[in-house]
Amino acid sequence: MSSSFGLDARLTAYVRNANRTETPALQRCRLETEAMGSVSVMQISPEQGAFLQMCARLVQARTAVEIGVFTGYSALATMLAMGDMHGPAARLYGCDISDDYTGRAHSYWQEAGLDGQIELRIGDARETLAGLIAEIAGSVDMVFIDADKTGYDAYYEAALQLLRPGGLVLFDNVLWSGSVADPERCAADADTAALKALADKIRDDARVDMAFTTIGDGILMAVKRD
Ligand SMILES: C[S@@+](CC[C@H](N)C(=O)[O-])C[C@H]1O[C@@H](n2cnc3c(N)ncnc32)[C@H](O)[C@@H]1O
Repeated sequence: MSSSFGLDARLTAYVRNANRTETPALQRCRLETEAMGSVSVMQISPEQGAFLQMCARLVQARTAVEIGVFTGYSALATMLAMGDMHGPAARLYGCDISDDYTGRAHSYWQEAGLDGQIELRIGDARETLAGLIAEIAGSVDMVFIDADKTGYDAYYEAALQLLRPGGLVLFDNVLWSGSVADPERCAADADTAALKALADKIRDDARVDMAFTTIGDGILMAVKRD
């Protein structure tokens, strides 16, 4: 699990206690993913999960797309809020390249009674998104992007095609542990450079309204204009 950049352990614990307790399936997903070792840092934090749920509620999300599913925590958090609002009509399309990571997600989704409403599409997200655009362009309420950082710009362009006007796209890790503010890291590292270029692009993009927030490792949000 990741933790919020810049918060010490005491404040992190305070924020966690200030949020509602995770559901049993979310908690099991987090604990079993932590047991996988260092790779678990890819998982969003519980407070980011609560934030995604609030975003889903604010845009009344019924259809969502997630790019970067891993062991299924963020998809389940989002789907719990969407299912609560829309019941069986809610649907989440999850894109990932890993059968191994996502194979673990089903048991958490099943435990929550939501496995049938989360559709996994395995493969490079660039190709998967082209297929989704052909199927559901203009009808998606929320897109969460949390995969390879050099792909973010392509995923953003795809998200703008998928989203309805007023739909929300969110990008995780836009602080990249602070390296985006370091010109030397931007010059030396492709992921850092891609995140910086995307933030600059979205700030100046008239197609969206946007906010760069410092939740977790940074979440950049953009709402598609009419
Ligand atoms: C940071 S993890 C996602 C964490 C997840 N959102 C969660 O809350 O647990 C990134 C995921 O992106 C996937 N990924 C990396 N490159 C990809 C690509 N080109 N297309 C699709 N998925 C990709 C990885 O397999 C990994 O599961």
